[in-house]
Amino acid sequence: MLFIIIHQTYELWFKELLHEFEKINRDFSAGDLFGAIHTFKRVRTIMKVLVAQIDILETMTPSSFSSFRDRLETASGFQSVQFRELEFVLGYKRAATLHYVKPDFPGYDRLQQRLGERTVIDHFYDFLATRGVQIPEELRNRDLAQPNQPNEQIQAEILRLYQTVPELSILFELMTDWDEGFQEWRYRHIKLVERTIGAKHGTGGSPGVPFLKESLFKPIFPDLWAIRHKM
Ligand code: HEM
Repeated sequence: MLFIIIHQTYELWFKELLHEFEKINRDFSAGDLFGAIHTFKRVRTIMKVLVAQIDILETMTPSSFSSFRDRLETASGFQSVQFRELEFVLGYKRAATLHYVKPDFPGYDRLQQRLGERTVIDHFYDFLATRGVQIPEELRNRDLAQPNQPNEQIQAEILRLYQTVPELSILFELMTDWDEGFQEWRYRHIKLVERTIGAKHGTGGSPGVPFLKESLFKPIFPDLWAIRHKM
């Protein structure tokens, strides 16, 4: 019961997060600073709840998980279409992860569509442009199915805005909070997996912990992290 409830709760929050990030995208493209600040406060707070929920599942011992693990068959976190959508929306696009979802699986088409859409970072560029930043051509015309990449020109501009427009630093810090929270979830999920199944492979067909570690400490907004030593 706990295992099902906790996953369904996550799915509800993922749905809410996707909804909020769509609003953030609109705020960014409209240059609405206070709208984006307001909503980043919300998503950051939801993320903290998602991290805290892991404590509940960690009350389950490895042997109690083993008692029903076989009945999961190939069911896995890989089937969380909404989590993958969230990654794609945030610009962390790993097309290879689509291989783990069968084309007839509900939500597969939605995922394909998200893969080709502009991300929160692309909309963030729109926002920066409303504050006088020249967005490099290669970022404007990038292949949308690829992950967003860090960019030194953007970093220099964000640094300048941090130093000259204090109200923008509120937004940048909230974005950093979100990013840290998302990475924290990955860390806590890995530790949960490690203490529950150790070195076993995942039910979704991945090597388990080693696979999950590949995305650990990968920031969503690398440009915001790259400049901190310069402030
Ligand atoms: C005892 C509890 C859990 C175990 C043992 C576990 C195990 C795993 C493993 C081994 C993977 C790698 C994919 C695979 O081969 O299956 C994975 C992925 C994933 N799990 Fe869990 N998990 C647990 C709980 C949760 C919970 C509560 C969530 C809530 C949403 C969750 C969400 C995910 C997601 C979204 C992925 C894909 C991550 C990615 O691709 O980076 N898992 N999980």
